[in-house]
Amino acid sequence: MTSRHPSRFPYAPGSDGTPRLSYGADYNPEQWPRAVWEEDVRLMREAGVNIVSLGIFSWARLQPAEHTWDFGWLDEVMDLLHEGGIRADLATATASPPPWLTTAHPEVLPVTATGETVWPGARQHWRPTSPVFRTHALRLVRTLATRYAGHPALAAWHVNNELGCHNVYDYSDDAARAFRAWLRARYATLDALNDAWGTSFWSQHYSDWEQILPPRLAASHPNPTQQLDFKRFSSDALKDHLRAEREVLREITPDVPVTTNFMVMPGIKGMDYADWAGEVDFVANDHYVVPGPQDRDELSFSANLTSGIAGHRPWFLMEHSTSAVNWQPVNVPKRPGDLARDSLLHVAHGADAVCFFQWRQSAAGAEKYHSAMVPHAGPDSEVFRAVTGLGRTLRALAPVAGSEREPARVAVLFDWDSWWASEQDSHPTSRLAYHREALDWYSALLRLGIRTDVVPAHRTDLATYDLVIAPVLHVVPAALAKELTHYVEGGGHLVTTYFSGIVDENDHIWLGGYPGALRDLLGIRVEEFGPLPDGESVALDNATTGTLWTDRITVTAPDVEVLARYRTGAYAARAAVTRRTPGRGSATYVSTRLGADGLTGLLPELLAPAGVTGELPSAAAGAVELTVRRDAANRYLFLVNRTDEPVALPGLTGDVLAGPAADDGLVLPPREVAVLRQPRPER
Ligand code: GAL
Repeated sequence: MTSRHPSRFPYAPGSDGTPRLSYGADYNPEQWPRAVWEEDVRLMREAGVNIVSLGIFSWARLQPAEHTWDFGWLDEVMDLLHEGGIRADLATATASPPPWLTTAHPEVLPVTATGETVWPGARQHWRPTSPVFRTHALRLVRTLATRYAGHPALAAWHVNNELGCHNVYDYSDDAARAFRAWLRARYATLDALNDAWGTSFWSQHYSDWEQILPPRLAASHPNPTQQLDFKRFSSDALKDHLRAEREVLREITPDVPVTTNFMVMPGIKGMDYADWAGEVDFVANDHYVVPGPQDRDELSFSANLTSGIAGHRPWFLMEHSTSAVNWQPVNVPKRPGDLARDSLLHVAHGADAVCFFQWRQSAAGAEKYHSAMVPHAGPDSEVFRAVTGLGRTLRALAPVAGSEREPARVAVLFDWDSWWASEQDSHPTSRLAYHREALDWYSALLRLGIRTDVVPAHRTDLATYDLVIAPVLHVVPAALAKELTHYVEGGGHLVTTYFSGIVDENDHIWLGGYPGALRDLLGIRVEEFGPLPDGESVALDNATTGTLWTDRITVTAPDVEVLARYRTGAYAARAAVTRRTPGRGSATYVSTRLGADGLTGLLPELLAPAGVTGELPSAAAGAVELTVRRDAANRYLFLVNRTDEPVALPGLTGDVLAGPAADDGLVLPPREVAVLRQPRPER
């Protein structure tokens, strides 16, 4: 499920040989004159930087023409880094094809659903399925790998960059050919495809594979299963590119671990990272805070899910920002303390490396207003002082390196198939936001001080959790329904919501009444959905308010208890929240969107049967996020103050690895983080 080489994390050895946390940034020396490089290495040392991602957008500099190579500058940078004790996560440089390539081969350029060419001028203008692109990219990878194999600065390979950030959906003829091949592998026969796609509808029956196209601009809603399969295919096509580069790298440098940076973030849904995680030697993620009321909850959610897809083994935070970004409508700088807190929240969730985009803020180009470790103002700046401060903290946290995350008792399931399918067009509502629903449950758990794991819906051993929350688990293949039933029958407590269990893996409705595949397990039946128009809400008799969705529920099993009823709306007096209790386990259904506030009110009733309570003093619950990492001898408690007020944590003891001294009881200043080491109890 996760890395095939879990131990292949590129740890920097400390002076005594034990691993340290890694610290660094994307480094783009080609944007600067030679004289700046020496200063860069000096400042990196001052900041405690020990790794940089190098050469990510260097293709045009490394190969200025098809048969011309220029490695001199990179040789020099690699040597300088090595002399400075800094290692390189060396990019394969294939993320942005050079102008000579796209001029000679415009057939590598992606095409949109409306048939427009995506022209060069920015970056990532390549088709994942282009054989021409693949040939040129792999030639570059081979040349680079051969040149730097054995270079002492080489710590890891960084395949491409954020695969799919801009080019996940390509509708070109290459994509059409590759899509057909992918469909043949999935369905084997046209009959099976016609069945799965439900092509009896609207006269879509295919009689030849060549008739099948990507879901290009159509007169009305394109076939839903075609759309869902195209999403799966597009994720797979990029994964295939990752594999192709990785195979060249493994052939030439079998001992150098390979990764690529994922983007586990709400706005990025094209790549099924739970499925990709097994393809890399260690998982790496990029994350950017989008300011808003739940922004740090979302950071925590992303880091937590990254850990989930990494099988709770250490992962690499490849990019985040020291302060403002350049790509939001308004780019607000971070407040004092946020740089360190954001970084350490990732470490709390298992990151053993903290890196930023980028080392030195660009003077030119589209990202010149994006913050960096060395800002335009230079090292005499608040940002650089915060950067060096974080370097010291990460050095003090060296004992944490290599530890795993201690499993929580509660899990929130996250599922790319359900994300993709639940948000498709021609549904009961176009307002459903899968990620937002999952995040609201997570926010509510944070507010109650409940430690939670966010884990992929497939590939997780549910039995390890006392409570499993599956928000909008829309796609439920028969095997998953069985697994969930088995979990509840074995004493597990399952909570799920509206629009769950509705379709199988082909996006076909489970007939007989909703929630389809989960109907018997939940002991309820719904004949019709009741989505709510914008601005409408319904009151429940437990003092919460529902929006977006309601269900007309009929209770069908004798062991179902109604936890809350609708008080207003079309379904007034009918059940809104139900719980079935077969044996020791339970299966709860929440039929409307309660939002983070409403869920915070409801959750205690759902946590109670599972016996789950907060682990911190109750005054701190909600104000402080607790995360635990552990190794054979110790537990490491990460305590993150989520508020702008000091928070007292009486009674907590341990060696303080980071944060304020705890002699007279720990008091966490606003937005600060403490890390306590405690001996692990004997089991
Ligand atoms: C990432 C990307 C970086 C940089 C950064 C800016 O998506 O990998 O190269 O563009 O965003 O936030």
